[in-house]
This record gives sequence, structure tokens and C-alpha cells, in this order.
Amino acid sequence: MSSKLNVLLIGAGGVGTIVAYGIDFVGKSNLSIVVRRDYERVKDKGYSIDSVDYGSLSGWKPQKIYSDIDAAADSRTPYNFVVVCTKNLADIVKMEDLVEPVITPEITSIVLMQNGFDLGRPFFTKYPKNVVISGVSHIGSHNHNGSIVQTQNDKSLISYFDNPNLEKSLQEAETKKFISIYSNEKNNCTYFPDAKWYRYRKLVYNATLNTVCALTGVDTGRLELSGGLESLSIPAMHEVIAIAKADDVELPGDVINAVVHSDDGDWFEPSMRVDVKKGNLLELEVILGNLLRVADELQVDAPILTVLYNLLKVVQFRLKESQGMFKLPEKRHVKDKIYK
Ligand SMILES: *[C@@H]1O[C@H](CO)[C@@H](O)[C@H](O)[C@H]1NC(C)=O
Ligand SMILES: *[C@@H]1O[C@H](CO)[C@@H](O)[C@H](O)[C@H]1NC(C)=O
Ligand SMILES: *[C@@H]1O[C@H](CO)[C@@H](O)[C@H](O)[C@H]1NC(C)=O
Ligand SMILES: *[C@@H]1O[C@H](CO)[C@@H](O)[C@H](O)[C@H]1NC(C)=O
Repeated sequence: MSSKLNVLLIGAGGVGTIVAYGIDFVGKSNLSIVVRRDYERVKDKGYSIDSVDYGSLSGWKPQKIYSDIDAAADSRTPYNFVVVCTKNLADIVKMEDLVEPVITPEITSIVLMQNGFDLGRPFFTKYPKNVVISGVSHIGSHNHNGSIVQTQNDKSLISYFDNPNLEKSLQEAETKKFISIYSNEKNNCTYFPDAKWYRYRKLVYNATLNTVCALTGVDTGRLELSGGLESLSIPAMHEVIAIAKADDVELPGDVINAVVHSDDGDWFEPSMRVDVKKGNLLELEVILGNLLRVADELQVDAPILTVLYNLLKVVQFRLKESQGMFKLPEKRHVKDKIYK
């Protein structure tokens, strides 16, 4: 047992539970998880999982189950890997602060199985000598009232966010070590050498179709029929490509065509549109906020993406209010600011 790696997974919902099960299935780790909402039930009964990869399971539990990160830190275990599978809502809680109690400097590698772009940067500032691994996962898996239903094969591409303070060879070796504790004959987990390229490639879709559909309340089929695809989303895609290019990332010449045709035949509702519909907060900062910060640093104009971002910030404000995250003052404040 002592030769096993200590692994802590945070956010065992639809996707996180399948990742956790995959790690347990390989059997090289002493696996603990943090599960907040379903803690009592999971601690009691374990998970029931209906999975295309692993079949039907009931009562599955990892070695340790914690209700929050502080409890996981109390064990004083130096974790080799901390795997984060939560949504990334950087305007609400900063991931690098959230995980602080369970990070051992220079020891713990942080695996971000999350959507978004340029996620490593705040970690390099806070933990200059830790490896930050990028996981882009395509699992179709949902948590239905505590039972996990996985309908698509767990396919993930694992790379590292290039930490300028560390040797590439060390980061690559650590990334491959993570793959060795997660990849098994049931899932499809592969090493991908370039996290930056892959995350730019995803943004061609997520920064342009997700965002416009979220704002307008249509699916990608209706977006095309209404003209919005060609008047808004495709011009926004050109802006993503220009930012990537200024950042030394060359996307394929046919990327726009490939992205537009990726939904052929579907009236597909992108995840951000679904979030607005359900009243869930948006992963706005890690999709558009981080991209526009890079555009600004590289002095690339992105007028459409900027308007989309500012409109979505207003939507996010509304969503936060409806979740009771703040209360309006009784009376509207009178400002002495002079507007011009
Ligand atoms: C497994 O990890 C937990 C912390 O989550 C720790 O308390 C326990 O001692 C570890 N077990 C071994 C055998 O290392
Ligand atoms: C969820 O599970 C709880 C207890 O297992 C049950 O009481 C509740 O009705 C379920 N809710 C739904 C929507 O199935
Ligand atoms: C696994 O994923 C890789 C990379 O996306 C792909 O090339 C390969 O065909 C997949 N293998 C299986 C068995 O699905
Ligand atoms: C980004 O797009 C992918 C499809 O390319 C989707 O699976 C994912 O959920 C999207 N993420 C967000 C935050 O919209």
C-alpha cells in the first residue's frame, strides 16, 4: 500500500465520478474524494454507476470520502495528485485558492479536468514549482439524483500547462505518470503534447457558438437559420484565430468549417446555453475573460468577443442575483459620477 500514490479528486459529480472510478480501477492509487452535495448519501451507500465503460455497479466507494477540502487536508497526507473536476467559476471562487489546503509545494501535481483556457497561469504564480496538468475530457456522464449515468466512452486528452519555471521534460514525465494511474483498458486516455493548441482549438467553438446561443436562447441549428451564425459567430471565430496566431498557435486552415459542421444534423444546445436555461452560473471568465486578457496583452483587437463578454457579464450578474449570491440595496444608490 505504501507504494501507492496518494490521489485526491475534488468534485465527484457526473464526470468526476467516472474519472475517480477509472483511477480506482487501475489500482495504483490510494484514492480519496471530496464530495459536497451528496456527501451523506455517498458516505453511507457509495455510488451507483451505470456506465458504458464499466457496466452497472452499486455501492462503489474510494478509500476515503471527505465533505470538504479542509477535511481532506486534516489527514496531513501529502497528495501526489490533486484532480479537480468541478466547474471553473473563477469570478466566484479562484481554483488556486480553493485547493490551497491540499497542495504541497513542489510535490503535488494539480490536474485540471475543466473547461476553459489558460487555466495554468494563476497556479504558476501561486505554486511556482508545481506541475499543472491539463485534462480535456469528452465524457457524456451525468449525476441523476446521486446515481451516475455515463452514456459516452471516457475519452480524454492529457497534457500539461507549460510552467515557465520547470523543465519541459519533468512536466511531460509527470503528465505521463498521471496517465499511468488513470488510463485503463476501458477508457481512452491519451497524451497530447500541446495543451495550448488544443484549448485554442476548443475556443473556436466555445467562445463563439456557446456564447451567442447563451445570449440569444437558440440552439446552433436555429442560430444558422436566423443568420446569426454568419453575422456573429463566424466573425468571432476569426478573432479567436487571430489571437491564437499572435500567440504563436497556428490553427488548421479549415478549422471554421470543421467547427460549424461538427453539429450537422443536430439542433444542438451548447453547454452555456443550457446553463442559462437552468439558471446555472456561466464559466465565463475561463472561456472569454482569459482569452480577452491574452488578446489585450498581445494587442489583438477582438471587438465582437469583447461585446459578447460584456453582455454575458450582465447575464452572469442576473444569474448570481437569482441564486441569492447578493442582495440589492433597498434603494438605488445615487452616484455623483459624470457620464460622457
Ligand atoms: C490514504 O490517503 C488518506 C488521506 O486521504 C490517508 O489518511 C491514508 O493514510 C492513506 N493511506 C495510505 C496507506 O497511505
Ligand atoms: C432523490 O433521492 C431521494 C432519496 O434517495 C428521494 O427522496 C427523492 O425523491 C429523489 N428525487 C428525484 C427527483 O428522483
Ligand atoms: C482514442 O483516442 C485517440 C485520440 O483522440 C484516437 O486517435 C483513438 O482512435 C481512440 N481509440 C479508441 C479505441 O477509441
Ligand atoms: C466547450 O465545448 C465542448 C464541445 O467542443 C463542450 O463539450 C463543453 O462543454 C464546452 N464547454 C463550455 C464551458 O461551454
